[in-house]
Amino acid sequence: MKHIAVINGPNLNMLGMREPDKYGTETLEIIKERILAAAEGLDIAIAFFQSNIEGELVTAIQQAGALDGIILNAGAYTHTSVALRDAISAVAAPVVEVHLTNVMAREEFRHISMLSAVCKGVISGFGADSYVLALRALV
Ligand code: DQA
Repeated sequence: MKHIAVINGPNLNMLGMREPDKYGTETLEIIKERILAAAEGLDIAIAFFQSNIEGELVTAIQQAGALDGIILNAGAYTHTSVALRDAISAVAAPVVEVHLTNVMAREEFRHISMLSAVCKGVISGFGADSYVLALRALV
C-alpha cells in the first residue's frame, strides 16, 4: 500500500463559502471525498491535513516526508513562504503543488511561487480536479 498526504493551507477550510466565483461551491470535505473516490481500488491510504498556520504546515510536510507523495495546496503561502519551500526541499517525498484556480491568470503577485522550483510538478486551474490530477500524477 502507498501512503499519500493531502495538505491544505490557509483559507481552504472556507471553500464553499469563499469567493465561489473563483473557487467554486465545493467544500474541502467534498474535495476530500472526491480524492478518496479517485483513490479507490488503487491501494493508497490518504491522510488529510489543513491549517491556517504556516508553522503547522511546515510540521505537516516534515511528518509526511517519508510517505510516497504529498499533494500540497499552500494557498497564499505559496507566494510568500521560504519556510514551506525549505520544508519541501528537506523531505524525500515528491510534492505536487496544486491550485484550484489558474494562478498565472490572476494578479501578478500570484504568478510567483516560492514552492514550484522544489516541487515535482504543478497543477493549477482545474478546480477540485486539480487534486485528482495530482493524485494520478503521483500514482
Ligand atoms: C490558491 C491560489 C492562491 O493564490 C490563493 O491565495 C489561495 C488558493 C488556489 O487554490 O487557487 O488561497 O492556492
